[in-house]
Amino acid sequence: MPSTKDQLTKYEKIEAFVKGFKLSTLTYKRVMTLLNSEMKSGLTKQTNHVADIKMFPTFVRSLPDGTEKGEFLALDLGGTNFRVLLVKLHGSDVEIESKTYLIPQRIMLGTGKQLFDHIADCIGKFVKDHNIQGQKLPLGFTFSFPCKQEDLAAARLSKWTKGFRCEGVVGENICHLLHEALKRRTNCDVEIIAVVNDAVGTLMSAAHSDRNCEIGLILGTGCNACYMEDLDNVGLWEAADDDHPQQVIINTEWGAFGDNGCLDFIRTEYDRELDTYSINPGKQIMEKMISGMYMGEIVRLVLERLTMEGLLLHGADRECLLFERGKFYTKYVSEIESDHDEFFANTKQVLEELGIENFTTEDCKIVKYVCTLVSARAAFLAAAGLATLINKIGRKEMTIAVDGSLYRFHPRFHNLMCLKIQELIRPGQKFKLALSHDGSGKGAALVAAVAMRLRNIKGL
Ligand code: GLC
Repeated sequence: MPSTKDQLTKYEKIEAFVKGFKLSTLTYKRVMTLLNSEMKSGLTKQTNHVADIKMFPTFVRSLPDGTEKGEFLALDLGGTNFRVLLVKLHGSDVEIESKTYLIPQRIMLGTGKQLFDHIADCIGKFVKDHNIQGQKLPLGFTFSFPCKQEDLAAARLSKWTKGFRCEGVVGENICHLLHEALKRRTNCDVEIIAVVNDAVGTLMSAAHSDRNCEIGLILGTGCNACYMEDLDNVGLWEAADDDHPQQVIINTEWGAFGDNGCLDFIRTEYDRELDTYSINPGKQIMEKMISGMYMGEIVRLVLERLTMEGLLLHGADRECLLFERGKFYTKYVSEIESDHDEFFANTKQVLEELGIENFTTEDCKIVKYVCTLVSARAAFLAAAGLATLINKIGRKEMTIAVDGSLYRFHPRFHNLMCLKIQELIRPGQKFKLALSHDGSGKGAALVAAVAMRLRNIKGL
């Protein structure tokens, strides 16, 4: 705590640069009202084409019942890594073998052909290494980008998000692109049964053992949520009526909330600067305030500003990494906030990694303070999103399946979210946030397995 008048002034000055991150409960309620009406507009046929939040129906209509079995290949594409998995389901018992392959930046920003050829090459290697050539394996593909789903195994990319921008893929059916690449590059025989979003995989994976699970949330490189919706509320639903339960999972793609400017009243100067220098300016506004791809950069921009104003890190050389875009990783935020005593061991290590040599304990305190403000706003915004869905679904008790590196590794995200959700939902409603294990892998296999089970029942 500042003791002299000078210090007080300094803390007051710092406050002026960070106060935009402190939002009142009333403000979060206003965000919820806006989100609710944007989601409605996405669900309505007449307004969907102009809506930012696309509310894509996924064709996933039944949750697993625990009896699913068989061997599946699963692919997981959505972050900087690509994973191939072999998933063996025997009822509630699940065995997974997987391998992670890096997607180099030149491929993330190259052509679609290069991307899918790279994926096919990785699958070819995996199949060979696991000695499963020659078997025609059913495949579930977790493709974590906004897609207009035309069937369980047909999905057209509507736009790239996160760090991807491969040419020639928007508007294309990604299953078709994968099939073509597999034909070109390998002789491996797969049947693509389902394409799913990671939020959907996460929900499916948790619903395998928890019947109360109705919402899936990703807090990782990106941020997105999905939930079970009644078909009556889905204006875009056109598939023939059948004997399925009258529900479908909706992939909200709520990361795009705010793209029409409706969140401008809470955006700070740092959010605007981050957006200007991103590869998709004006897009994914809510995601940019929450997710792992951006949080570290927001903190960096604040620290840079405070340093330039002479309020922090007097010993920082202007050439050090603190002044370079993208060099303050979100994992640093988690590490810094994990410091719980006056030694600031993690904070010091981060500052050293950034090439800052002379810093004081007070600097560490301020750096940690900035991290806590930025991450709390992110957690509260995600909580406002979840509270909107919980209120909309209106069930008395609900489990929310959560996955993603930000949620897993940040020391306070879970607790902050729980506190804020409690404040924002109707009295008497109960909820639980449950970590979902390997949603992208197991979830994709489960979607494929449920589809095959239903197919067998129908004798198709
Ligand atoms: C981005 C993608 C979305 C995905 C999320 C989390 O928001 O558009 O499809 O679910 O990131 O990976």
